[in-house]
Amino acid sequence: MSYVPDWHHAPYQEFWQKYAYAPYGIGAHLCLGAGIAEVQFPLNVAMLLKQFDVTLDPPSYRLKLANNPTPHPLKFKIKLTGIHH
Ligand code: HEM
Repeated sequence: MSYVPDWHHAPYQEFWQKYAYAPYGIGAHLCLGAGIAEVQFPLNVAMLLKQFDVTLDPPSYRLKLANNPTPHPLKFKIKLTGIHH
């Protein structure tokens, strides 16, 4: 199945399954770092994007996706060039 950006909007509601996606666990042992992780990751990516020009290697490569244990791209290469200070 391909990626559906509108998945969390109303037309898809009938397909939602409670607890289908729980990257930080559920219940009493829910991850204590979930909040900090979700803030820290975009900050790290923003820092990298600000400091480098990022291109896929080769530039024509199309990302391949997998869904287990959480949605992620399969192994791919990027090239970092042009360091901006
Ligand atoms: C993307 C990053 C992270 C993911 C996907 C993640 C995921 C998880 C998962 C699946 C659990 C187990 C929940 C369970 O047993 O039901 C867990 C537990 C835990 N995580 Fe994370 N975690 C992340 C980052 C962090 C960070 C940054 C911290 C600390 C700063 C942290 C602290 C903890 C602690 C203390 C527990 C144990 C909670 C307990 O047993 O009561 N995690 N995490």
